[in-house]
Amino acid sequence: MIADPAAMSAWSEAARAQGEHVALVPTMGALHKGHLSLLAEARHRAQRVVLSIFVNPMQFGPQEDLAKYPRDLAGDLAKAASVGCDLAFVPEAASMYGPGFQTAIDVREVSQGLCGARRPGHFVGVATVVCKFFNIVRPHVAFFGEKDFQQLAVIRRMVTDLNLPVEIIGLPTVREPDGLALSSRNAYLAPPDRQRAAALHAGLSAAKTLAEKGECRASVLLEVATTEIVGRVERIDYLEIRAADDLKPLETIDRPAVMLVAAFVGRTRLIDNLRIG
Ligand code: PAF
Repeated sequence: MIADPAAMSAWSEAARAQGEHVALVPTMGALHKGHLSLLAEARHRAQRVVLSIFVNPMQFGPQEDLAKYPRDLAGDLAKAASVGCDLAFVPEAASMYGPGFQTAIDVREVSQGLCGARRPGHFVGVATVVCKFFNIVRPHVAFFGEKDFQQLAVIRRMVTDLNLPVEIIGLPTVREPDGLALSSRNAYLAPPDRQRAAALHAGLSAAKTLAEKGECRASVLLEVATTEIVGRVERIDYLEIRAADDLKPLETIDRPAVMLVAAFVGRTRLIDNLRIG
């Protein structure tokens, strides 16, 4: 494990000097099978696999769960080792955001709406810290889960716009048998809430099935998903259909699309998405 950014960069430079490809899997820890699938794929694609674990204060709003976000460093290191991860980079907040820190990356359009509207500043925090990780670890390739679909779109846009020399690979969401997307925040769910949480995927799936039968009106697909979800959660935060590439809102499914949902189950806010059309 390395905590010091300069030591991390030196480790990576040494690997690169030997002609080795370096893969990075950025996380906030509390690793689950979704994270492990990213690490396993990274293991296939690169000689060196780095996992970063950093609960990034810059991407949490003042009323959000920064303090109670699940942390399990020892468990995470054991899980990472079990899938062949070479190194964990676990910096302190003080070394990521030193005195006088004042720079931020704003990926303007893709960050609008959806989680960007509900969590002001969230994607600025995500883009800034991911860019810092790319500069410190200097990976050839980095892996992210599609569960955070808007986050992945923000990171892809940033990499293109800023000519960052890293390949971004998004991997499918890993799910529980009842369809619930794996998330570190699932740990917050009390047993009855855990059961109801499957409603998100059930709603998305109902809409996808209808789209596969030829329905292409977004309003109809959203209605079907809403009916499936609404009575089983406390509140739907958003439910929208967007273009899969640039996340522009769609009224008709005339190109690859994604339905995205955020909802409160108990007091826990969960997100999920499914490609449709
Ligand atoms: O998806 C996450 O865990 C975080 O948003 C990330 C990408 C590690 C940045 O802090």
